[in-house]
Amino acid sequence: MTDFGIARALHLVMVVLWIGGVGMVTTVLLPGIRRAYPPRERFGAFHAIEARFARQARWTTALAGLSGLYMTWRIDAWDWFASAPFWWMHAMVLTWLVFTVMLFIAEPFFLDRLLERRAVRDPVATYRLVERLHWVLLTLSLITVAGAAAGVAGINLAGF
Ligand code: HEM
Repeated sequence: MTDFGIARALHLVMVVLWIGGVGMVTTVLLPGIRRAYPPRERFGAFHAIEARFARQARWTTALAGLSGLYMTWRIDAWDWFASAPFWWMHAMVLTWLVFTVMLFIAEPFFLDRLLERRAVRDPVATYRLVERLHWVLLTLSLITVAGAAAGVAGINLAGF
């Protein structure tokens, strides 16, 4: 089971890098730029810095997903998906799917351009929307991390 241990370590390191980055962007970078820049410059400043994290988030998300799938296959845990106390397995897949769609489809193909155009029209509301979106993603991610970390120890944080 050495391979399982390696996959688990890789999974956690990728999750730390990826979700830790989302936490940093949400709680430090976005409010910091809001305070430091006038409304019209905020979105551009955020985009310039965040583009580098988006690249990092793409490969950490991909490796977290691959290592997660490998573990599921390796211990034949597919039936966990049919059991309510393993809700955190669904939460992991959902979180992964949401980020994968955002990072690989929505952002490069239309979301970035849409937000850029909206930021020209209404910079304050657009920046607020970007901040809210990050809070939603961070909250979902942290619930998932907490549920999974407790879940592998046999504790169901949802209480059912
Ligand atoms: C396709 C997506 C994913 C799959 C298939 C998957 C699969 C797994 C599996 C099977 C385990 C249990 C390993 C064990 O029994 O020790 C696990 C653990 C874990 N996963 Fe995921 N995962 C995925 C995505 C995610 C995401 C998106 C997050 C975070 C937001 C995450 C966070 C965790 C955490 C914190 C653990 C607990 C590790 C530990 O405490 O040992 N996973 N994952």
